[in-house]
Amino acid sequence: MIQIRAERSGDQKAICQINDAAFNGDNESRLIDAIRNSELFVPELSLVAVADGKLIGHILFSIVTIKSGENDVPTLALAPMAVVPEQQNKGVGSLLVEEGLKRAKDQGFEHAVVLGHPEFYPRFGFVPASTKGIEAPFPVPDEVFMAIELKEESLDQIKGKIVYPSAFDTVS
Ligand SMILES: CC(C)(COP(=O)(O)OP(=O)(O)OC[C@H]1O[C@@H](n2cnc3c(N)ncnc32)[C@H](O)[C@@H]1OP(=O)(O)O)[C@@H](O)C(=O)NCCC(=O)NCCS
Repeated sequence: MIQIRAERSGDQKAICQINDAAFNGDNESRLIDAIRNSELFVPELSLVAVADGKLIGHILFSIVTIKSGENDVPTLALAPMAVVPEQQNKGVGSLLVEEGLKRAKDQGFEHAVVLGHPEFYPRFGFVPASTKGIEAPFPVPDEVFMAIELKEESLDQIKGKIVYPSAFDTVS
């Protein structure tokens, strides 16, 4: 049985270990710590997957900005997410994405973006962000920068470039 719940105090070290193991380095765990220490952290949207009392996966959504003309529109960036190598390809990552998107919607967020595997995220409803008029702030292949509308047509009137907060400089 796998449980998905919001991170609690005391989970931080295990979250770092999951990310370090999945990504083979500490860039992502440093990013998570930087986001957690910023005002753009949404505690309800840092989720862990727990199996037999052990943390085996983690997903984080935090607030970034779409520069849409004169307007700064807040949206969510899914970054990073990780499942420990020995538990990958068993559906844990999918549970984390599905539960994360549901909770994001419950929190009132209307859309989200992700930079990631183009074979993985479309199954949850992500589409190339360019098709919604949303651009990455750096050059990336079109299919790896994706967006999802959590509320139908919520990106119809919003077009522009994503701006990542300085916490993301940790990994650039
Ligand atoms: C990506 C990740 C979070 C998925 O978690 P998971 O528990 O293995 O995911 P699920 O079991 O729900 O789904 C597995 C699917 O993800 C795909 N996937 C996993 N890693 C992938 C990769 N590096 N590139 C492309 N697809 C990948 C698998 O091919 C599989 O697809 P299938 O169902 O068509 O066979 C996990 O593999 C991981 O931690 N990878 C290393 C870190 C990483 O790449 N994080 C995401 C950054 S965008």
